[in-house]
Amino acid sequence: MTERTVVILAAGEGKRMRSSRPKVLHELLGRSLIGHVLAAAREGLGQASTLVVVGHGAELVREHLAEVAPQAHPVLQAEQRGTGHAVRLALEAVADVTGTVVVLNGDVPLVRPRTLRELVAAHESAGSTASVLTAEVADPSGLGRIVRAADGGLRSIVEERDASADELAIREINVGMYVFEASALRELLGKLSSTNDQGEEYLTDVVALMVAAGLGVAAHLVGDPTEALGCNDRVELAGLRALLRTRINTGWMRVGVTIHDPATTWIDVTARLERDAVIEPNTQLRGATTVAEAAVVGPDVTLIDTTVGAGAVVLRAHAVSAEIGPGAQVGPYAYLRPGARLARKAKIGTFVEAKNAEIGEGAKVPHLTYVGDATIGEGTNIGAATVFVNYDGIAKHRTVIGRHARTGSDNMFVAPVEVGDGAYTAAGSVITKDVPPGALGVSRSQQRNIDGWVERKRPGTAAAQAAAAARDGDARAAVARDSEAARDTADAGGNNAGEEPASSN
Ligand code: UD1
Ligand code: CA
Repeated sequence: MTERTVVILAAGEGKRMRSSRPKVLHELLGRSLIGHVLAAAREGLGQASTLVVVGHGAELVREHLAEVAPQAHPVLQAEQRGTGHAVRLALEAVADVTGTVVVLNGDVPLVRPRTLRELVAAHESAGSTASVLTAEVADPSGLGRIVRAADGGLRSIVEERDASADELAIREINVGMYVFEASALRELLGKLSSTNDQGEEYLTDVVALMVAAGLGVAAHLVGDPTEALGCNDRVELAGLRALLRTRINTGWMRVGVTIHDPATTWIDVTARLERDAVIEPNTQLRGATTVAEAAVVGPDVTLIDTTVGAGAVVLRAHAVSAEIGPGAQVGPYAYLRPGARLARKAKIGTFVEAKNAEIGEGAKVPHLTYVGDATIGEGTNIGAATVFVNYDGIAKHRTVIGRHARTGSDNMFVAPVEVGDGAYTAAGSVITKDVPPGALGVSRSQQRNIDGWVERKRPGTAAAQAAAAARDGDARAAVARDSEAARDTADAGGNNAGEEPASSN
C-alpha cells in the first residue's frame, strides 16, 4: 500500500470567532473542530502518520492534541504566511515524506470518513498528482472557486479576492481538502509566489502549476455540500452544530432509537444508544454517555459521561459520571454527581443529590435528600429530607447503611457511621453512633407540651384567638357530648343530671 501522510492545517487565528481560544479548539457536539477532522482522517484513512500545523494558540492546540491524538505530530508555523507555506513547513519537518499526502483544513469538521476514503482511493487508483475535493454551494462567498477547462478538467483554484467577475459567479468551491503525490507537491511548493492580494503562499496555486506541468489533476465533487462547510464565526459554528445534530439524531433513529423532538435533542458524536431507547425533548447526551435498550431519558435531562441501564427511566435530571442501573429510576429533579452508582431498580427521586454513593438493588432515596460518600444496601428505604453528613470541614467520611433498612424522615447520618442490616432509625434522628442490625436508632429529645402558652405569651394574636376558639369549641363539644350522654342515660333510665362538664384536656 502507498505510504500516507495526513497534514492538518490549524495555524490560523480565526479572527472572526472573536475568541481567546484558537478557532480549531471550539467545541462541536463532543469534539473540538480539529478533533472532528482528526477522527474523520483516522476512521477514513486508518493510522496514517499525521502532522498538524499549529501557530496561533500553539500551546493550547498542542495540549489538546496530546489529549485527543497523541500520535499526531505538531509542526510550528510561527508566522501565518499562507496555506502553501504551512504545508511546506510540514513536509520539511519530517524526513522523506513519500507516497500520498492528504491535506485537510482543521476547521471543516463535518467531512465524512467515507468521503476521505473515496477521495484517496480514487486518487491512488488513477495515479493522479493532485485530487481536489470540491462542492457545489448556494453561497460561495469567501471561498476559492474551482475553474474548469473547456474539457471539464480542473484548471485552477482562484481565491475570491483574486477572482474576476466571471469567476466569482462560479458556485463550485474548493473545500480545502486535497490529496497529492508527495514528490510533486514538495517540488511545486518550492515554486509558489506570494504575488496575490493577501501576499501569501497559496496551496491552491500548486494545482495550477501541476496543470501547467501536464501532471494529472482531478476534482471530486462531494455529494453532500454540508461536508464542505467551514467555520469562521460563531454563527457558522451554531449552523454546523445544528447540521451535525440532525445527522447524529437521524443516524440513531435509523438504528431503532425513538427521538421525540430531534430539534431539542443534542447527542455528542461520542455517545452510544441501543435500540428502543426513547429520548424525550430537551435532552443532551454528552461525552461517553451510553443509553441501553428501552431506557427512557428526558424530558429536560443532561447526562455527561453517564451510563443508563436497560429499561431505566431518567426524568428532568442532571448527571455527571454516574451509573444508572437497569430498571433504575431517577428524578424528576435529581442531580447525580461523579461516583453516584445505582444498582438494578434503585431509585433516586425528587430533589435528591447523590455523589460517590452506591445505591443498592431496589434501594430507594425518594425525596429531598443529599447522599454523599455512602453505601446503601439492597432494598433499603431512606426517609424524606435526609442528609448524609459526610464532611467535617477537613475530610470526607463514609456512611454505610445495610440491607433492607428503613431510615426515618429528617435524619442526619454523621459519618463515619453504620446502620446495620434490617435496622430502623426514628424520624428526626441525628445518627452519630452505629445502629446494630435490627435495632431502632433514636436520637431525639422527648416532646413536652406547655399548655396554654400561646394565650398567655402571645395574647391577642390570631394564634391565641384560634387557640381560644379551639378551647371553647372543645368545651362546647364536651358539654354537648355530656348532655347527649345524659339524655342517653335518662332514656336508659339513668340519672346523672347536673354533672360538671368534662375538662377540655
Ligand atoms: C482556504 C482556501 C480556499 C478554500 C477555503 C476553504 C487557500 C489559499 N484557500 O481559504 O480556496 O475555499 O480554504 O475553507 O488555501 N492556515 C494555516 N497557516 C496559514 C494559513 C492558513 O495553518 O498560514 C490554516 C487555517 O488555520 C485554516 C486553513 O489553513 O485551518 C485554511 O485557512 P483559511 O485562512 O481559513 O483559508 P481561506 O482563506 O478560508
Ligand atoms: Ca483566510
